[in-house]
Amino acid sequence: MKVNGKDINTTGSSTALDAVLNNHFNVAHECKNGVCGACRCKASGKAKQVKDAIGYHGKGEILLCTVAASSDIDVSIIE
Ligand code: FES
Repeated sequence: MKVNGKDINTTGSSTALDAVLNNHFNVAHECKNGVCGACRCKASGKAKQVKDAIGYHGKGEILLCTVAASSDIDVSIIE
């Protein structure tokens, strides 16, 4: 998994949101359950959904808290 073009360590992280936070990136988040939409990011690649993504996200975007940390994705954090 990459964040802003940098490979990150996903060991011990269950969701992509956990992995991003564990690697000290600052990303908005609230519910951690796919509802609020706060963790919306642009992404390309194969995202493995582990929870329903209910909160708003557009085409080409994911909710980090709903995707497996092991997903083969390249994420760009929306500031
Ligand atoms: S933190 Fe709420 S949708 Fe991810």
